[in-house]
Amino acid sequence: MLQCMGCHTPDGRGEPGHVPSIRNTLVPFANTAEGRKFLVQVPGSAQSKLSDAELAEVLNWMIDNLSAISRPPQLRRFTGGEVAAYRGTPLVSVAAVRARLVAAQPAAQ
Ligand code: HEC
Repeated sequence: MLQCMGCHTPDGRGEPGHVPSIRNTLVPFANTAEGRKFLVQVPGSAQSKLSDAELAEVLNWMIDNLSAISRPPQLRRFTGGEVAAYRGTPLVSVAAVRARLVAAQPAAQ
């Protein structure tokens, strides 16, 4: 609520033209290796004050509570170890990577 909701809004719809809705992206992104890295490396996640373990729990919570697409049973949960592995590598071109991931995932559009 304190660190993420101001931009993402309580239901994840965001602010049109400013913060994109994450309701249709969380599950499709979490289903691919590149998408999982993106969810951790996006500036709002990577640069937050949360510890790696806390960020993993917030991402899992977002998938369970803000996604319009239900969590598929086989979808792996994030762990602090997975977050730590990706977090130190900054995304060079956030918008371009996001656009490519959305285009590759019909459900995310
Ligand atoms: C200042 C506004 C802002 C704050 C605060 C913020 N975000 Fe974001 N977030 C964005 C924007 C804008 C995007 C779209 C990608 C980009 O341009 O960074 C995004 C994208 C994301 C994504 C990728 C999903 C997608 O569809 O792009 C995740 C995951 C995410 N944010 C998590 C968080 C978490 C977790 C927090 C709190 C710790 C947080 N964000 C705080 C603005 C914000």
